[in-house]
Amino acid sequence: MSEVRKCLFPVAGLGTRFLPVTKEIPKEMLPLIDKPVIHYGVEEAVASGCRQIIFITGRGKRALEDYFDRSYELEQFLKERNKEDLYNLILSISSLADFAYVRQPEPLGLGHAILCAEPFCSEPFAVILTDDVIISSKPVLRQLLDVREKLGGSVIALERVPHEETERYGIVDARLYSDNVYQINDLVEKPSKDKAPSDLAIIGRYILSPTIFAHIRNIDRGEGGEYQLTDALRSLAREEPLWGVVYDGDRLDCGTKMGWFKSIIKRGLQDPELKEVVLEVLREEEYKE
Ligand code: UTP
Repeated sequence: MSEVRKCLFPVAGLGTRFLPVTKEIPKEMLPLIDKPVIHYGVEEAVASGCRQIIFITGRGKRALEDYFDRSYELEQFLKERNKEDLYNLILSISSLADFAYVRQPEPLGLGHAILCAEPFCSEPFAVILTDDVIISSKPVLRQLLDVREKLGGSVIALERVPHEETERYGIVDARLYSDNVYQINDLVEKPSKDKAPSDLAIIGRYILSPTIFAHIRNIDRGEGGEYQLTDALRSLAREEPLWGVVYDGDRLDCGTKMGWFKSIIKRGLQDPELKEVVLEVLREEEYKE
């Protein structure tokens, strides 16, 4: 079975839930402590064995392209001042992987964004949505790739969510295959709790067969006039195996203001020095009341 080497990062969305900051700054560049959110996704792809990273970008995403490029002046500056640690840190970002960029001319949805990479994906490929940073001992994408190596087909990440929250996610209708692996029959976008076929939500990690492109081309525009990846996956699941893996890891939702803020606090509490700062602020505030 061919190895999966390419990972797509669709980053051409407008990030409206974070306005006004995303008017000029890509949402993927918002920091989670000292690294932009997208840096965590790229590290996950690389740790899973993907060396070719393709960003599907759009207007206003230059900061992201520059971030993964060499920064000659900064490197020189740090070198001249003997700041070796920072010099190595900066250099390591551009050498993480091979980076390429494809433009999505209009933000017509996640399905459409993925279709823009078709000319570069003749083999199975991975997709990471950067909104979800997942901290795990084995990278989540690697957990999916392991299942693909055993069972073939396409594979997506799943998470059990509370019944009241099904309407925030794509939910699958699936049959347990083994341990944490499910065979997916159907997918429903954001069902209310009484219409949800299960409590298994689709989380932004995918290993897709290139046949997905034909399915994307065949779907109609869905919710919000966008080409939805979920609709293309429904169509794919009718013709070939689509597996779901309930991954092992801790997800930090960085796609909404509240989720992002909570993620920063959570990450802070995991660092002994920053934990003290969080606790100090809480103590000070308590004292004021
Ligand atoms: P989201 O809907 O979560 O991101 O899309 P968004 O549109 O940027 O944010 P909001 O909802 O307006 O706040 C999921 C992923 O798909 C990408 C986004 O960049 C995000 O990573 N996407 C979405 C595209 O690349 N192109 C699109 O047309 C839509």
